[in-house]
Amino acid sequence: MRTGEELRAALRQHFWYHCIELRPGIVTPGVAGGAHTLPYYGIPADLSGKTVLDIGCWDGFFSFECEKRGAERVVGADNWENAGRGAFDFARTELGSRVEPLECDIYDLPGTLGGERFDVVLFLGVLYHLRHPLLALEKVAAVTAPGGLAIVETVVDLETAVLSRPVMAFFPGRELNDDPTSWWAPNPAAVAKMLMACGFSEVLNNIQVWQGNRSIFHALKMSDAQVERERQRDHRDRHRRPPVRR
Ligand SMILES: C[S@@+](CC[C@H](N)C(=O)[O-])C[C@H]1O[C@@H](n2cnc3c(N)ncnc32)[C@H](O)[C@@H]1O
Repeated sequence: MRTGEELRAALRQHFWYHCIELRPGIVTPGVAGGAHTLPYYGIPADLSGKTVLDIGCWDGFFSFECEKRGAERVVGADNWENAGRGAFDFARTELGSRVEPLECDIYDLPGTLGGERFDVVLFLGVLYHLRHPLLALEKVAAVTAPGGLAIVETVVDLETAVLSRPVMAFFPGRELNDDPTSWWAPNPAAVAKMLMACGFSEVLNNIQVWQGNRSIFHALKMSDAQVERERQRDHRDRHRRPPVRR
């Protein structure tokens, strides 16, 4: 086993996004994560017997946390296009973790997982990075078990945050955080309505705004029968239905 000094030197070989405590007092030098942020997310304290999928896990801070909370199985998925998977693998080995890495784009997740659905799905800090947010939420819904919980954290549009009307701000350039990979900022109503359009019910926006322009949502996945009933009721099917006689 490495000494503390050797571990500190070795972890500096990687780029870290998350602050992860690898050993008491040895924390990776990231800009996000860290134990003090956890209460905001409302991740269940006891995940015994639950399966968890962490979409966009990057260094794996939240995946490792779910494992600590007793989850039976944790899959950490990411396309790792930014900085690669080195930091995740390093932390996983150092922590002796059984979190399963899955290198996959979100749009391909349901197919790659072959129909597997998870009790808890974390979708933190990813939505606003995607060109196709509604499609992405459909994928989140497809990998969430009936009755399961999805936790979504995202940038929200402050200028329209007070509106009950669902709208999204579009950032085609670097307007959001000077980051060309940030595309959309939905207002809180839009996040909730998009989740509901994808098969979730009881969407709770438990924190309106945190860290300035971000928000956290908890959404419960409908039963398959309920999703089917909603689909049947969907007025957008009207052209495929027999005309109503007057
Ligand atoms: C801002 S980080 C969020 C990391 C972590 N979930 C958190 O909240 O601290 C966004 C992550 O989403 C991943 N990501 C972005 N686009 C993706 C895509 N199309 N498919 C899968 N992962 C993606 C990035 O690689 C990155 O790890």
